[in-house]
Amino acid sequence: MDKKVTVVGAGNVGATAAQRLAEKELCDVVLVDIVEGVPQGKALDLTEAAPIEKHDAHLTGSNGYEETAGSDIVIITAGIPRKPGMSRDDLISTNAGIIKSVTEQIAKYSPNAVLIIVSNPLDAMCHVAFEASGFPKNRVIGMAGVLDSARFRAFIAMELDVSVENTHAFVLGGHGDTMVPLPRYSTVAGIPITELISKERIAELVDRTANGGAEIVGLLKTGSAYYAPASAAVEMAESILKDKKKVLPCAAYLQGEYGINDLYIGVPVKLGKNGVEQVIEITLTEEEKTALMKSAAAVQGLKDDLAKLG
Ligand code: NAI
Ligand code: 2OP
Repeated sequence: MDKKVTVVGAGNVGATAAQRLAEKELCDVVLVDIVEGVPQGKALDLTEAAPIEKHDAHLTGSNGYEETAGSDIVIITAGIPRKPGMSRDDLISTNAGIIKSVTEQIAKYSPNAVLIIVSNPLDAMCHVAFEASGFPKNRVIGMAGVLDSARFRAFIAMELDVSVENTHAFVLGGHGDTMVPLPRYSTVAGIPITELISKERIAELVDRTANGGAEIVGLLKTGSAYYAPASAAVEMAESILKDKKKVLPCAAYLQGEYGINDLYIGVPVKLGKNGVEQVIEITLTEEEKTALMKSAAAVQGLKDDLAKLG
């Protein structure tokens, strides 16, 4: 393949993302993990599936960064996931150290890469990677809104018994309890769901979406969701690799947009070969604006916690 993507963290999300990238023949994949043998083993296992899955992507596993050199995109999933009873925010001090050290290595070997951050707490980890890389803001992006919107879309499709392909949804804000699903901008074949589903029922779907991560943690008990998160990260990578310029909700560094300054938060962006090519500002009602500001305040709180960690 003429494109190269590194996935750091060969755990549940990372390995699944590697599988999806290879099976879609988007790029060659380098899988990196701190645990000896795991990235090598998973890369070899995926390579041995290639003849059956009919793809020619090359997969390599490594515990170091030399093999990652010259990556077009790096998806960072390294860290610990949450367990029942933990919030995403409980992961901050452990994962901040991991993301800082990983990003420094990545920036050294792939100075032109676009970074897609997945590790939680997502918005805070974007700040860590942005600072540790020294990359421009368009090349450090967080994955959350695509996942949260996919959850909302799945629930809308189930509710109306329609194809998921007919659904579109927007979830803005931080990747936490304060995320802001936007029913007015969520549609089925172009029809706003506010015309198809009752207000009370929409409120229940919105609540299920905001708690979508916790619902899976409660069922799995040993970790958090990974199939849908991997799909979401790969949708972002595909838009960048193919310069598709898809408009997707992603965590982007805002400097004045939506009245928010110097903060990573989920907003609609255009994703192309340069990463975030445009932040799209949509009109929000007073209620939606208040919800977005509340979410921004929660992310600012995490950013302040990071500063205290030093
Ligand atoms: P996992 O535990 O299955 O995998 C994490 C991997 O990171 C492990 O294999 C571990 O050995 C590796 N790792 C730890 N320190 C490392 C280091 N310094 N260098 C390289 N690798 C290192 O966890 P999972 O389920 O894959 O989740 C990964 C992260 O993604 C978690 O923080 C989780 O909360 C987050 N996540 C975020 C989502 C989002 O929407 N943004 C969705 C799903 C997960
Ligand atoms: C999720 O939303 C844990 O952030 C992860 O599933």
